[in-house]
Amino acid sequence: MARRNIYQVGDDTLRQISKPVTEFDDKLAQLLDDMRDTLIYADGAGLAAPQVGVLKRVFVATFDGGNTIIEAVNPKIVMQKGRRVAAEGCLSIPRIHEKVERPRHVVVEAFDRYGNPIVLKASNFEASCYCHEIDHLDGILFTDKSIKK
Ligand code: NI
Repeated sequence: MARRNIYQVGDDTLRQISKPVTEFDDKLAQLLDDMRDTLIYADGAGLAAPQVGVLKRVFVATFDGGNTIIEAVNPKIVMQKGRRVAAEGCLSIPRIHEKVERPRHVVVEAFDRYGNPIVLKASNFEASCYCHEIDHLDGILFTDKSIKK
């Protein structure tokens, strides 16, 4: 069990564009294990690698309180459909919740930690989460997109 520090808004690391993973090695496995531990400890739904200071295209997510961890390496949204507006938060932006418009349905293609291709199909909250995490990989925070009234 190894938790990593979660970088907070204002840190320039969160604004960088992450690089694709090319080596599916022990270092990647360690990163994913640490991100899982960090996500569960922080009681979040999703965590992207730049949030722990690693500029690689990796995120983890959980929708059942940490029982099942989704790991996505080099994720790409290959289909999106519909619209949904809902409040979001972020482990890097404490205490802020703002509404964001996202696709209601997405299909994400990615790889697992071993380099096997995976497909993630999601709707509603889970779809928003995947979009939010993939935005992190491009240096985008949800507050950039929030609908302020
Ligand atoms: Ni976030």
